[in-house]
Amino acid sequence: MSTLRHSEIAGVGHYVPSRVVTNADITELMETTDEWIQERTGIKERRWFEEGKDTTANMGANAARKALEMAGLTPDDVQMIVFATLSPDYFFPGSGVLLQRELGIKDNVPAFDVRNQCSGFVYGLSMADQFVKTGMYDTVLVVGSEIHSSGLDKSTRGRGVSVIFGDGAGAVVLRPTNREGAGILSTHLHAQGEFAEELIVREPGSNRDGRVQYILDNELELYPYMNGQNVFKHAVVRFPQVIKEALEQNGYQPSDIDMLIPHQANLRITQFVQQKMQLPDEKVYSNIQRYGNTTAASVPIALSEAVGEGRIKRGDLVCLAAFGSGFTWASALIRW
Ligand code: UT7
Repeated sequence: MSTLRHSEIAGVGHYVPSRVVTNADITELMETTDEWIQERTGIKERRWFEEGKDTTANMGANAARKALEMAGLTPDDVQMIVFATLSPDYFFPGSGVLLQRELGIKDNVPAFDVRNQCSGFVYGLSMADQFVKTGMYDTVLVVGSEIHSSGLDKSTRGRGVSVIFGDGAGAVVLRPTNREGAGILSTHLHAQGEFAEELIVREPGSNRDGRVQYILDNELELYPYMNGQNVFKHAVVRFPQVIKEALEQNGYQPSDIDMLIPHQANLRITQFVQQKMQLPDEKVYSNIQRYGNTTAASVPIALSEAVGEGRIKRGDLVCLAAFGSGFTWASALIRW
């Protein structure tokens, strides 16, 4: 029998910018329609950050404050930070140290930055879980935060990508639990770099001489590129696979799940996964309609809302699952 302790999510919180951008607003910027966006993605509106107010780090800090409050803790209690984002405030240093500064967390606390895009939060949760399990740390903050809207091609040229992504942040606090059979039961992480260029922001890359001049000459490569159909094709296979992997490892069936929190990639992907797992509507959480795809922030925002709405109760079996750029995919099974 394992002597390792389990960690549990002791608090969860989220923050989204106050600026709501509807599909109708988007049609003012590019050739698209509310019908196209809703039919292909389920998205009705998303949030875009406010310059001078929102940063990737301070949105993460706002979410973290709520998670700490729910856990009955303060920033002084935090012993490690894991910050997942694909849209950091700086090329370096990462946003983890900026969040540390923002929250006034002590300087003996490490801050990791995780760059696994849509799977970043679940990857980060898995990392944090290992540190709590081994007893190295008791209180770990895991944050996912993104500002996409400042880096999207908002012309018709970029419409296949830019209508999907939104800004926001979510956070959890992990703590050890002494409740038998409760907490994070297992996490499962995967990667397949052969598809690295299928969903990518190429620049600013470092693998050429004179990269600053290169960017000035090739500024379109600063925008995200996605082979949407191929990403979709892999997502609908990997989501069910990684959810089943988590269930099987713990001796459960899909019908044992009380709440599935999938990365909010596309409502059509979530519906496909729901059908494949034969889960009823009330056991699958979706808020992409209101926030779009917020990559590393989407799972903790959805988890925070589901908890806030009373849709996750103590003792529930909760599954988190994500898939995205890399490709990377991941799941976590939690007895709440
Ligand atoms: O979170 C990380 C993982 N990301 C995902 O999981 C995203 C996976 N992929 C998708 O969700 C879908 O592929 C999209 C929603 C991105 C795109 O939907 P699609 O059904 O695959 O559309 P498409 O890219 O094949 O484009 C179909 C048509 C094209 O026109 P033609 O060539 O058929 O005339 C596009 O030019 O739709 C056109 N189109 C648009 N039309 C209106 C593309 N974007 C738009 C738009 N508005 N915003």
